[in-house]
Amino acid sequence: MAIQIERIQKDIEIINKFNATPEKGITRLTFSEEYQGATAYVVDELKQIGAKISYCQAGNIKASLPGTDQNGPAVMMGSHLDTVVHGGKFDGVVGVVTALEAARIIAEEKIAHRLPIDVVVFAEEEGSRFRWGLLGSSIWTGKLDLMRLSNIKDSGGVTYAEAMAKAGFEISEKSLLEPRKLRAMLEVHIEQGAVLEKGGYRIGLVEAIASIKHLDITITGIANHAGTTPMEERSDALQAAARIITAVEEIAQEIGANTVATVGRITCEPGQANVIPGLVKFSLDVRNPNKDILDSSVAAIKKTVKDICDGRDLEFKLTPLAESKPVSLSSQIIDLMEEKARERNVKALRMVSGAGHDSALFADLTETGMIFVPSEKGRSHCPEEFTRLEDIGLACKILLDTIVELAA
Ligand code: GLV
Ligand code: MN
Ligand code: MN
Repeated sequence: MAIQIERIQKDIEIINKFNATPEKGITRLTFSEEYQGATAYVVDELKQIGAKISYCQAGNIKASLPGTDQNGPAVMMGSHLDTVVHGGKFDGVVGVVTALEAARIIAEEKIAHRLPIDVVVFAEEEGSRFRWGLLGSSIWTGKLDLMRLSNIKDSGGVTYAEAMAKAGFEISEKSLLEPRKLRAMLEVHIEQGAVLEKGGYRIGLVEAIASIKHLDITITGIANHAGTTPMEERSDALQAAARIITAVEEIAQEIGANTVATVGRITCEPGQANVIPGLVKFSLDVRNPNKDILDSSVAAIKKTVKDICDGRDLEFKLTPLAESKPVSLSSQIIDLMEEKARERNVKALRMVSGAGHDSALFADLTETGMIFVPSEKGRSHCPEEFTRLEDIGLACKILLDTIVELAA
């Protein structure tokens, strides 16, 4: 079972040619032209090895290599191809190309397997287009109602369902995933932090994935003339937002215990130098490996929003968006992957993921495992994101060994 590292390199290069922001990192939003190009490339490669392609709910793609047991539960592997805006070349892509290469080896070397082996590409993992992270996998695993796809919209007012149809993603397999259809789910991913690099490890095995809450916060003030409205008579939405944003950092620091909180997007209307801001919207992303600590952090932030807005007589709205619970991944799969790493004389580090991943949604459905590869200087979600090809190749070998054993 000899994987071909040059093929993986070529896959990464070709996928990243589908990019809306050349020279400024990679931007590939779900169902955009670039996304259609990248997914079509992967689908073509999988068709060449005889995989059966299905477009599943929410536009998730599945390429199946049938096993000798026609009705057996599937061993799945894969990740996502959408990116953040001005992101990097490796987030998500590494999980897709390693799964693709592992599938090629299984098909080319005619490795016998009883269970079906599926390569999957999840849609809208990042939430960059529809502001809802892990959306494709949330729908497919039944965690979010399918009907939501008709009212979750992008910034231009296009619904998820409309965008999916326009991109030509016609659903061919309507059923949702359930435990009896799954034997395991495996995902290779870049670490997106610096733990592996600092410790000199080439492979991480994820034991748990932190919980995440996303909210949109809207503050409504009164737009008015910047020159004629005295300071004491203003209803300035941005002044309130500024204080809330400052408090978000303070609350996260005070609570500590690995709490991280980020305001990464803000819009201000009407957005004129000489007009008092009447409407401000901003995002909130809060994470913690412990759900109780996460909940109390979000509660503290909500209270601050209320106190600051009430104190300034401003209206506010909190809109809950994506949410994922903390999950523990399968200890059996971790043990198996650790054994496969050891067979290759590689010492793997067991670790926690602060980043969210589609795999988190599978943990209560099937045995789920994730392999991390180091991110240079811990940089991710930015153009500087980099992971060495040798490490990606090593992860692919461990993935292949594990999949073959699980599907045997
Ligand atoms: C996904 O990359 C996330 O952790 O937000
Ligand atoms: Mn990712
Ligand atoms: Mn990401």
